[in-house]
Amino acid sequence: MKIAFFELFKSERNILQKFFTGQEISCSEEKLTEENVGLYKEVEIISVFINSGINKKIIDSLPNLKFITTRSTGFDHIDYKYAENKGIKVSNVPAYGSYPVAEFTFALLLTLSRKIYDAYNHLREGADFSIFSLQGFDLHGKTIGIIGTGKIGKNVVKIAKSFNMKVIAYDIYPDLIFAKENNFEYKSLSEVISQSDVLSLHVPYNKENYHLINKENISKMKKGVYLINTARGELIDTQALIWGLKEEIIAGAGLDVLEGERELKEEFEILSSLSKAEKVKDYKTLLEDHILIDMPNVIVTPHIAFYSKEAEEEIIKITEENIKGFIAGKLQNLIK
Ligand code: NAI
Repeated sequence: MKIAFFELFKSERNILQKFFTGQEISCSEEKLTEENVGLYKEVEIISVFINSGINKKIIDSLPNLKFITTRSTGFDHIDYKYAENKGIKVSNVPAYGSYPVAEFTFALLLTLSRKIYDAYNHLREGADFSIFSLQGFDLHGKTIGIIGTGKIGKNVVKIAKSFNMKVIAYDIYPDLIFAKENNFEYKSLSEVISQSDVLSLHVPYNKENYHLINKENISKMKKGVYLINTARGELIDTQALIWGLKEEIIAGAGLDVLEGERELKEEFEILSSLSKAEKVKDYKTLLEDHILIDMPNVIVTPHIAFYSKEAEEEIIKITEENIKGFIAGKLQNLIK
């Protein structure tokens, strides 16, 4: 089989080359795009990460394509329904991020609650040991609203409990047994939004929950709420978030993901390749992302919540199993 891997780190490349000796494989650090897809016309299997937007055009440009496997849990970057209609199977890595993303949620939250970034800069740039501007707040006793209690959300519940936070949650499929075991309550989305001191998002992004957090529900949040998003940028209306921060309804935000982050990443690449400028479609969102990045009470990281040593090992292991399973006719982790 002809297999092409995209967006590979060097460490992943070495391991994958060993796993697939005997197969015709190509490995690239680049993402798969409409511009470079012509180089891969022969491939039967592609393995991508979140920055390769696998749209109809790319799928149609690969006449021999039979299987797409993404080395991520989220699969909103793949037009999987179109692929399915063409008989192309699509799979993901369902579970690698449940510990690192949950831990990272608290890394963002604690950075905000204890002003760690400010304190570090204060000391390093100002050589200043005065602390009066660096007062934080305790998580102990605060209410955290967890939206989405799947694999990651459940670990966030457990960590929040260990901080003695009061947990409330919303999920379209509540796990009442887990709630009983972990002593928290499910509530409606509007109750969770209006009662939480901290809100954390852990739902997958799809067309139904586009801008799940918007101006209407931000206006009902508790004044001084902190918002953490390690799920997907499109779950939050960026313009409304900026409004909520400026109105001081939202006291701070910790964002590992941004709306339009694929384009933002491209925009940073544009700095070294101006010919790519015409590719940027949504300047409004890009501008809003820059406004967010520059706000002092917002911390933005470049989609790294998943990126731990252990998660990378798991991603490679499951990807190997997905591909070998497909070749052997034993499909696993299929997206339907
Ligand atoms: P999961 O599938 O185990 O859990 C998702 C939960 O959300 C489920 O309980 C589901 O019932 C619930 N849900 C779905 N739509 C909902 C809606 N509209 N409203 C309320 N609840 C809803 O997924 P997991 O592993 O917990 O991951 C969650 C998301 O985190 C992924 O889809 C992905 O987008 C993101 N993620 C981000 C990473 C990062 O590095 N920042 C890494 C891994 C995942």
